Amino acid sequence: MFDFLQKQGATQELAELVLELARAVEEISTTIIHTSTGKAGSTNVYGEEQIAMDVKADEILGRTLKTNPYVAAYCSEELDALEPASEGGIFSVFHDPLDGSSLFDVNFSVGTIVGIYQGSNVIGRTPREQVAALYAVYGPRTTLVLSVGNGVHEFLLTGEGWKLTHETMKLHGEKKYFAPGNLRATKDREDYFKLVSFYVKEQYTLRYSGGMVPDLNHILQKGSGIFLYPGMPGAPQGKLRLLYECGPMAYIMEQAGGASSDGERSILDVEIKELTQTTPIFIGVKEEVKRAEEALR
Ligand code: F6P
Ligand code: MG
Repeated sequence: MFDFLQKQGATQELAELVLELARAVEEISTTIIHTSTGKAGSTNVYGEEQIAMDVKADEILGRTLKTNPYVAAYCSEELDALEPASEGGIFSVFHDPLDGSSLFDVNFSVGTIVGIYQGSNVIGRTPREQVAALYAVYGPRTTLVLSVGNGVHEFLLTGEGWKLTHETMKLHGEKKYFAPGNLRATKDREDYFKLVSFYVKEQYTLRYSGGMVPDLNHILQKGSGIFLYPGMPGAPQGKLRLLYECGPMAYIMEQAGGASSDGERSILDVEIKELTQTTPIFIGVKEEVKRAEEALR
């Protein structure tokens, strides 16, 4: 993986960091098999109940990042504040350690999402400044999808380590899949109700598990589709997190030739004002993101 990342233009420091993150993903993948589906008895900064595996995945990534010489600071969806790491570190790293953890007890796929920035401060900047992003899918198999700014690549975890399975992943937009998050919003949002009705009438295929990682991975694997998580009255900014979820996923989908939007601009151009910021998101093939932007303006 190291040589491949360097061939894609990653610096030695970035390639080493991504390799360390891949090791953490491997550890999370084996830990999942032996971890109960029970609750941790704690809540995160958003007031969400944590399960045991949320805490373990956060610990595994935290340990990796704290000791990596290239990491200046990091934070996760499960942490309250930016954690300092190595003095002289050059990157800051933001992650959702176990995305879709409410699906863990029913044995659906879950994931890990990571975004990497140069420098230790991201406030006032945008996700476009990420230098790399990755997500892992823990399904029947464990896969790692990543970009260091030169396209999107997929690796599969095998008995002999990570094997490159997709050199270049592309969104082309031929088949019509839709993944409508926050459907509850249709009660108050006639525009969202109309857009979903359009998908149904036009016979789009529904693919929605309730986990952002597997749902977006489906779109990327099939090469087509749209995922939405709009806001609604009372929660105009939706619930998906800019730094830990939307930013890295937008970086990957745009690197694959797709688009992302908060309704007005690319997710990659949304200013980061605080670590816990959330944003509405429409993400997938360009034509469908445009349609959603027009319909939900
Ligand atoms: O991390 C948040 C998350 O679990 C995403 O993975 C998923 O897309 C979303 O929440 C589902 O939200 P809801 O439970 O509101 O449908
Ligand atoms: Mg999540």
